[in-house]
Amino acid sequence: MKPGPEMLEWLRSRRSVRTFSAEPVPREVMERVMEGAITAPSNTNRQPWKFAVVRDAAMRSRIVNAVSTRVAEMKAIIQNSRHAESYGDYGDFFFEPLGAAQVIVIPQYREYPDLIANLIESGGGDPKQFTTASSMQAELCSTSMAIMSLLLQAHAEGLGACMMAGPIVAKTEIQTLLGIAEPWRMVGAIAIGWPIGDAPARGRKPVDRVVQWIDEETR
Ligand SMILES: Cc1cc2nc3c(=O)[nH]c(=O)nc-3n(C[C@H](O)[C@H](O)[C@H](O)COP(=O)(O)O)c2cc1C
Repeated sequence: MKPGPEMLEWLRSRRSVRTFSAEPVPREVMERVMEGAITAPSNTNRQPWKFAVVRDAAMRSRIVNAVSTRVAEMKAIIQNSRHAESYGDYGDFFFEPLGAAQVIVIPQYREYPDLIANLIESGGGDPKQFTTASSMQAELCSTSMAIMSLLLQAHAEGLGACMMAGPIVAKTEIQTLLGIAEPWRMVGAIAIGWPIGDAPARGRKPVDRVVQWIDEETR
């Protein structure tokens, strides 16, 4: 167990890594990464997540092709817009890290009936009078936590990883390729592999700008 200050330094050393070597990632290492993912907290411990861990090269190519095809379609439309120049090749960020990755993880979540809303209803009340967990997409939040746990375990293994929303542009195609069907929904894609080079540190807003301290003396 790392002491607090060391843990903070370690958390700060995580990067979104987008360039990877061609060295495969052993299945045992990925098994630990996925064990790490499922340690995450979730609403009423529902664990509303599933993950497709794609190590197979042919399936990875199909996923990358699906995303790059959709990006090209999007780009052709944006070319006609006044934002064409500022958009540039931005869409390439949606698939390039996946193309270099040795493993692609597709996280998925599903919604469940809102427990508290149902209890209120069963007591004769109107659930709309109360703000309950479904209003904050609790299952998506839980799955995001599992994704962060996955990224941290990957970091601890010396792997590089990048969580990506961009590949959702090919949601229908990827869900079909992997047999993902309702009630499950893809939540982006994670590129994973052994890192090449040092990924740049991206700045953070200062903590005082994003934290509202409610200390005793402010009462
Ligand atoms: C929900 C989410 C979506 C993201 N989508 C993409 C993406 O589509 N492509 C990409 O290259 N990076 C993506 N990122 C990575 C962010 O760009 C990155 O986390 C951010 O720039 C901070 O850098 P760092 O993770 O190295 O600290 C995404 C991150 C999150 C959490």
